[in-house]
Amino acid sequence: MCGIVAYVGGRRAFPILIKGLQRLEYRGYDSAGVGLINDKKIITYKQAGKVSDLLEFIGDSDTSGSIGIGHTRWATHGPPSQINSHPHSSSNSQFSLIHNGIIENYSSLKKVLEEKGHVFKSDTDSEVLMHLIEDVYNNGNDLVDDPKWDDDDDNTLFKAIRVALNEVVGAYAIVVLEEGNPNEFYAARKGSPLVIGIGNSEYFVASDASPIIEYTDKVIYLEDGEVAKLNKNQDVVIKTILNEDKSPYIQKLEQSLESIEKGGFDHFMLKEIFEQPKSITDTMRGRINPKTNDIILGGIKEFESQIVAAERIIIIACGTSWHAGLIGEYIIEDLARINVEVEYASEFRYKNPILTNKDIVIAISQSGETADTLSALEIAQEKGALTLGICNVVGSSITRVTSGGVYTHAGPEIGVASTKAFTAQVTVLSLIALRFCQLKKTVPRGNYNFLIKELIEIPKKIEKLLSLNKDIMKIAMVFKDASNFLYLGRGFNFPVALEGALKLKEISYIHAEGYPAAEMKHGPIALIDEEMPIVVIATRKENYEKIISNIQEVKARGGKLIAIVTEGDIEVKSIADYCIEIPKCFRELTPLINIIPLQLLSYHIALMRNCDVDQPRNLAKSVTVE
Ligand code: AGP
Ligand code: GLU
Repeated sequence: MCGIVAYVGGRRAFPILIKGLQRLEYRGYDSAGVGLINDKKIITYKQAGKVSDLLEFIGDSDTSGSIGIGHTRWATHGPPSQINSHPHSSSNSQFSLIHNGIIENYSSLKKVLEEKGHVFKSDTDSEVLMHLIEDVYNNGNDLVDDPKWDDDDDNTLFKAIRVALNEVVGAYAIVVLEEGNPNEFYAARKGSPLVIGIGNSEYFVASDASPIIEYTDKVIYLEDGEVAKLNKNQDVVIKTILNEDKSPYIQKLEQSLESIEKGGFDHFMLKEIFEQPKSITDTMRGRINPKTNDIILGGIKEFESQIVAAERIIIIACGTSWHAGLIGEYIIEDLARINVEVEYASEFRYKNPILTNKDIVIAISQSGETADTLSALEIAQEKGALTLGICNVVGSSITRVTSGGVYTHAGPEIGVASTKAFTAQVTVLSLIALRFCQLKKTVPRGNYNFLIKELIEIPKKIEKLLSLNKDIMKIAMVFKDASNFLYLGRGFNFPVALEGALKLKEISYIHAEGYPAAEMKHGPIALIDEEMPIVVIATRKENYEKIISNIQEVKARGGKLIAIVTEGDIEVKSIADYCIEIPKCFRELTPLINIIPLQLLSYHIALMRNCDVDQPRNLAKSVTVE
């Protein structure tokens, strides 16, 4: 969600900041701004809208300086406007701050600061944090009466930031500039990601590695509660907000520049849809022994006996990852006969869940930074459950707080609407189901081997399916002006219907609902008329006859039917208005291929409606606020 970029070193900061902000655009935002130190003074440019609007606003103004901060804001406190955009300055403009996240106790802090004479220009919680830091800097600890700060070893902004952050409830990633100090800035995080890149007498800071990747491969992932002092002439200094020294852990960045570029496609989303044969192969790579068909999942190996003995698995996730979790429920219960429950992380965290140390909690998250999922994990840990993660972003917060897990090796996903991360998650869940059905011997060996063979062949089948892109585009043309869509599926493909509907609404802004096909007659059937397109997943052999009855119910009411059918299908084809044929596949693995045409259908419809496919309105790639 939203983005931070900062640079200090020997180069001109401005182009680095702008390029970095453009790389972070995929995360979703509504305003942008930069702050530069030029001739010792801080100059700020900010504007509601896109980075391109900011550039237009800046025009030929002075953008010199070799230190600066850049921000894309996803408004939480106050509407998108110039005044609410970041950076925010202190009262006397001595400091300037960019912030991602939410300061939950901002209103009580604001009241105290107002009583002390602070005047605020914006509606934001971030400006309150800026003033809090300023107040601590000017007045010492009178707001924060704690003896641990009395050993006055320093009287600097570094200390003021640490002291002030002790008073903050909420989530933050911040960078703070100081007037007259063109060699250094400070960065801190809690609950919002922040990466430091180390160059040659230069530092980069960003919300993820994409703005840093072309300059250096040496990075430090700042931990929660840490504050870093980054002076271009010195080594990194890291302290916790409780004043403890930390030794920086420098890691090698494994990402490549190509992986975050469009590679000839018009949009990241299309590129990512077409990458799925590769991303699924990468996710399986090294995890299936070609001789024995045994599955090796290194990240959960040590917990296998605990999982086999578990009373249940609880999957927590949000959005698309939650849909992958639902498919996980079907496949793990069906194959491994382990009881699985799937919960929205945002509900789970507040429902006082019943958990014991016999439960396994698996968090699924592309970004590994989703605030609700992280908080749900914390609760699961407090209650003694073993927590595992299925994440795409290496080194992300969820991977660090869980005891183990399995990475989806889908590569960076830039399109806000998740596609390849979803199929990679379903691949991992299929591997988990197969691993535990093997350990528990719940499926005969022969069938197990067939399933493995089928899983290995999925990328080829997707490849074949992708060649139908043009046919799907033609169907999109017919339905691009619809106001509503219904998606129906049963069993393993009920979550696929949910995911198909989510994709369409996210990027085309058409209202769409996913339903278990048999539930239609309990309510949604009232919506069906000649105007209503209905996408039905009717592949063999998942409740095929039952689905045909549901299709008849739709047709009888004049609904327009788009059916996803298995190659060679005759019956559904004779009833449906449009059909998309899917290669034959075992029912347990059909979700992996059935979702592909639904992704393409959404993409084309959105494009035909002139929507911003990669950065749909109001959405953020990684939702780091509650
Ligand atoms: C996917 O298309 C969405 N943008 C969204 O629902 C997403 O899946 C959700 O926010 C969870 O994100 P995560 O996987 O990074 O935790
Ligand atoms: N809460 C802050 C605001 O509304 C920061 C939002 C963000 O993370 O971009 O300005």
